[in-house]
Amino acid sequence: MIAIGCDHAGVEMKKAIIEALTEKGFELKDLGTDGEPCDYPVIAEKLCNEILSGSCEKGILICGTGIGMSIAANKFKGIRAALCSDSFSTKFTRLHNDANVMCMGARTLGPGLACELAEIFLTTEFEGGRHQRRVDLITAIENKN
Ligand code: RB5
Repeated sequence: MIAIGCDHAGVEMKKAIIEALTEKGFELKDLGTDGEPCDYPVIAEKLCNEILSGSCEKGILICGTGIGMSIAANKFKGIRAALCSDSFSTKFTRLHNDANVMCMGARTLGPGLACELAEIFLTTEFEGGRHQRRVDLITAIENKN
């Protein structure tokens, strides 16, 4: 199950992504907002808890720029949130960082690109190996601070 959430800036983009990914066979859990103005950290927290509890394997967060969502999501131990705006970074944040949350900006990306990036994120596997050691070092930093 893939969690998806947005603030008021990202409602239309979220709908486009849900439609595109559902067509591709993904199951999505929509955590809102459905249009009501809301504060992005509230949605980021809901989504991160879905992942940390094991209910969802990965998450997609959308706000105006994607930046607020990524800052908020990265406050959670065990969340590696990547701000994605191009296909190369989106692919490599899965291959090398094992990112479990992608964040996108509804005011900076078009819906077509956002849907394509979401599919890349969800279909690219972590490479492991030396990258696992580096992810473990990130976890060690989380545990020290
Ligand atoms: C909301 O207006 C806007 O601040 C939010 O969507 C986001 O861009 C924050 O990073």
